[in-house]
Amino acid sequence: MSYHTTVRDVYREAATQPAANLCCVPQAPRYLPGLNIPPIMVEMNYGCGTTIHLQDMTSNQRVLYVGVGGGLEVLQLAYFARRPGGVIAVDPVREMRQKARANLELAAETNDWFDPSFVTLIDGDALHLPVERNSVDLAAQNCLFNIFKTGGDLEQALAEMHRVLDDGGRLVMSDPIASRPLPLALRQDEVLRAQCISGCLLLEEYLQKISDAGFGAIEVRSRRPYRMLDAVTYDLEDDLLLETVEVTAFQVTMPEDGVCVFTGRMAVYLGPDEEFDDGRGHYFPKNIPLPVCDKTADALQALGRADIQVTPTTWHSEGGGCC
Ligand SMILES: C[S@@+](CC[C@H](N)C(=O)[O-])C[C@H]1O[C@@H](n2cnc3c(N)ncnc32)[C@H](O)[C@@H]1O
Repeated sequence: MSYHTTVRDVYREAATQPAANLCCVPQAPRYLPGLNIPPIMVEMNYGCGTTIHLQDMTSNQRVLYVGVGGGLEVLQLAYFARRPGGVIAVDPVREMRQKARANLELAAETNDWFDPSFVTLIDGDALHLPVERNSVDLAAQNCLFNIFKTGGDLEQALAEMHRVLDDGGRLVMSDPIASRPLPLALRQDEVLRAQCISGCLLLEEYLQKISDAGFGAIEVRSRRPYRMLDAVTYDLEDDLLLETVEVTAFQVTMPEDGVCVFTGRMAVYLGPDEEFDDGRGHYFPKNIPLPVCDKTADALQALGRADIQVTPTTWHSEGGGCC
């Protein structure tokens, strides 16, 4: 029996009986002006962070959301789309789609701007998206891809997102990551995997999978604690911290020297000239810090120049920058 059967059983159950401890976001959801979120959607928030970042929202985007849950983020995305069919939402679990539909109808009662027709709920699977190639500008998933096993499914899910996104499109994701590799016994526990606990990768592995799928730039929007797996309960040598990472990956050509990963680092040139040209297409005006990807940051630091300073990673990249 494939672990996907366990995953669907877990979410069939979570659709029927809201599971307060499932995934569990430490932060309150984003309450945008004029957005009233029905309490049931908050209760059924099975994400581990958010995929709603203002800098990823542009006019008339064609939006795809994969793994719908109670519909919270679909409603938030519809807030920006505001037109019939503006958000396509895919989930293979019938009970979850039904619950999301009911929750969206509830949301329409307290949100004048919203009509349930803004969201098209479709039966479908992240591994075989029922969506045309290059037909989406913004694709999002929250706390689903960590469930997929590497060596096949995760790679396929990312390839599917890459296929459906148009040039310049964005993939916004939130997933738990592990601070050290999880032991095999945990990784093989299908229920814990379905509950977004035991499928977590290290951050470097997670980012590598995204760039292997062909995304040429990645911005890490946020990284923060998500869960502590205590040594006794999880039969570990030491307690193990899981974190939530939120990233936006860009459907842009892969640079010849590899993916640009922005982790919040900035570089500043201190003079004496008016600007510094690093010879790799980046120009730094005197005294103005600019966001740089880790590759560029490392290259600048390797120059060992006192007139170039590079700030450390903050895990909060808000866009813009050197590449
Ligand atoms: C952890 S929940 C996250 C729900 C939602 N993204 C949120 O943040 O609340 C995972 C969701 O993915 C759905 N799901 C499970 N397997 C899937 C698959 N193979 N493809 C797409 N969605 C899937 C589940 O039914 C559930 O709605």
